[in-house]
Amino acid sequence: MKPVLSVKNIYKIYGASCLHCTSSEDVNGKSNQCRHCGSIISCRNVSFDLYHEEVLGIVGESGSGKSTLLKLLYFEEDPTSGTMHINPLNYKQFTIPGHCTDFLFDVNLFGLNSFRKRLIRNHLMGMVYQNPHLGLKLHISAGGNIGERLLMAGCRNIEQIRSRARFLLEKTEVDVERLDDLPQYFSGGMQQRVQIAKALSNKPLLLFLDEPTTGLDLSVQAKVLDLIKSLQREMNLTTIIVSHDLGIIKHLTTRTIVMKNGVVVESGLTDQILEDPQHEFTQLLVNSTL
Ligand SMILES: Nc1ncnc2c1ncn2[C@@H]1O[C@H](COP(=O)(O)OP(=O)(O)OP(=O)(O)O)[C@@H](O)[C@H]1O
Ligand SMILES: [Mg+2]
Ligand SMILES: [Zn+2]
Repeated sequence: MKPVLSVKNIYKIYGASCLHCTSSEDVNGKSNQCRHCGSIISCRNVSFDLYHEEVLGIVGESGSGKSTLLKLLYFEEDPTSGTMHINPLNYKQFTIPGHCTDFLFDVNLFGLNSFRKRLIRNHLMGMVYQNPHLGLKLHISAGGNIGERLLMAGCRNIEQIRSRARFLLEKTEVDVERLDDLPQYFSGGMQQRVQIAKALSNKPLLLFLDEPTTGLDLSVQAKVLDLIKSLQREMNLTTIIVSHDLGIIKHLTTRTIVMKNGVVVESGLTDQILEDPQHEFTQLLVNSTL
């Protein structure tokens, strides 16, 4: 089976960069800074495949490049180099309303123009951020936030938009009565639920979650995680979740990649990684959460 998403040899360098940034071998993730020019190598030669309906975890300490990687996949930033390919399972029937999708296949998505990248993001991707300020306009109603996303995905009928927004709030267990209320007056847990509703509004092929529960109280965290898990099963989502919490990774994912200073130091089945971590850093991470 072909992966839905295939990412190869991604580098993201912040700074002037020099020849040494990419040529120096640092497979163990000793530092993310180039000794010669001082640039930050936020992602170093990152490759992975993501399969249909799989939940892939990205785990690593603060500054290891997890958020950078998601930003690249979501076209918020451009990589310094590397490729990303997309292969929906049944791509012959695969459509974006009003657009021919031939341009999507067998092409490095990073090389597409910004219009096409936006099209992919609006129709095929959803993102949930740790910080609700990044994913929501807090001064616009919950329904308005979801509606805005639906408009970007080509939906024009106001009644349809409102009914889909209601449906999504129900799905994410937000009181539908709050449709016209502003998220700035919602609790942190509710804001994350609205973010999830918004991210799911366009029925994305790919859902990206960047530490979606990190800012929440433990009990709220558990509820939001359970919600993510049940939506994942129900909607057959293909998901990448970033976390520094191995408990969350264990709870939600089947495969995991472990990052350190921009390098993938270990990858494999989550159970195997947790039971028998190979890399020194993963061992440390696993032992520290026991
Ligand atoms: N715009 C930027 N300019 C310069 N350096 C950056 C920029 N964005 C990120 N970095 C650097 O890239 C590295 C990776 O950052 P990133 O935010 O991806 O880490 P992270 O794994 O998500 O960390 P955290 O767990 O704290 O969220 C860090 O050293 C960070 O300082
Ligand atoms: Mg981050
Ligand atoms: Zn350099």
